[in-house]
Amino acid sequence: MKAVSINSLHIAIFTDDPGWHGARLKRAFAARGFDSSYASLTACQLNLDGNGPPINIPGFADCLPEGAFVRGIPGGSLEQVTFYLDILHGLKLLGIPVYNDASAIERTVDKGMTSLLLRHAGLPTPPAWVVGNRVDALALAKREMENGHQVVSKPLFGSQGEGLQRHEKLEDLAFLAESNGVYYLQRFVHCGEQSHDFRVFVIRGKTVAAMRRYGKTWLNNVAQGGRCEPVRLGDLLLCRLAEDAVKVVGMAYAGVDIIRDAQGRYTVIEVNSVPAWKGLQSVSEVIIADLLADDFLSLCATHPSQTQAGAT
Ligand SMILES: Nc1ncnc2c1ncn2[C@@H]1O[C@H](COP(=O)(O)OP(=O)(O)O)[C@@H](O)[C@H]1O
Ligand SMILES: [Mg+2]
Repeated sequence: MKAVSINSLHIAIFTDDPGWHGARLKRAFAARGFDSSYASLTACQLNLDGNGPPINIPGFADCLPEGAFVRGIPGGSLEQVTFYLDILHGLKLLGIPVYNDASAIERTVDKGMTSLLLRHAGLPTPPAWVVGNRVDALALAKREMENGHQVVSKPLFGSQGEGLQRHEKLEDLAFLAESNGVYYLQRFVHCGEQSHDFRVFVIRGKTVAAMRRYGKTWLNNVAQGGRCEPVRLGDLLLCRLAEDAVKVVGMAYAGVDIIRDAQGRYTVIEVNSVPAWKGLQSVSEVIIADLLADDFLSLCATHPSQTQAGAT
């Protein structure tokens, strides 16, 4: 493949809503001598006529970025999302570091695949089911209830606690969450009187920050009003479980949601490949954007794109 021109001091931050996180990343990159531009995946193009770089990113006229930091993938039709992932896969193919890369994002944006990988690796995660029709979903949920369990139904690609339903009794099953004909169910984990769970932030295999989130309801997400409290990283069981989970899904960095059951055992609810960290930052001493920028730039520095002919 023809060498592509790379602007070695310019980073792409993929996002449609830069906000607080985009600004923190931009500042961290600038402090390290790198320029960065926000770009929407919706405005990128594949340009396969042999003229110029095969991927056009707004803000990167005739060249490619040194690396791409993914802060968000827009929703859309199957074709649209596939196209956005094509852009990320394509950048990697061209030697541009993508953080987290498209395959890692695919593995965890889909809660069913995350559950499958965690369970396959033997890590503690609540029993879960993914089925392709409502009749099977109802039958499974009913069986769980008959065995004394509650069930959570979730959008397969959901985030920030949106669209989840907790089913305590049979009548609640009328509100089963559904994702275009696919149903994801997970056994509800009781965590004691005051609802809480843990968010553990792992970069390059190591826990860098963690918090306990106390929800206003059973949903402990910060976006749903969850209150953050710091957690000491001396809780090795919690940190090791998060690190193992991130290893299993193969991510450079991630936010891991862990809950402790009534018997005191930790279990992984989900792994986030594009995690927010505003709430966590509010109770952490480390500057998370700095740690992310350092790790991402060290990946860029060791990447073959540095040595490609034509790099500017
Ligand atoms: N199986 C479960 N048992 C108990 N609480 C759960 C369970 N699954 C999710 N929750 C609660 O709902 C929140 C959101 O669930 P999660 O699977 O992390 O979805 P999202 O991607 O929307 O954050 C969790 O942080 C937790 O508070
Ligand atoms: Mg979550």
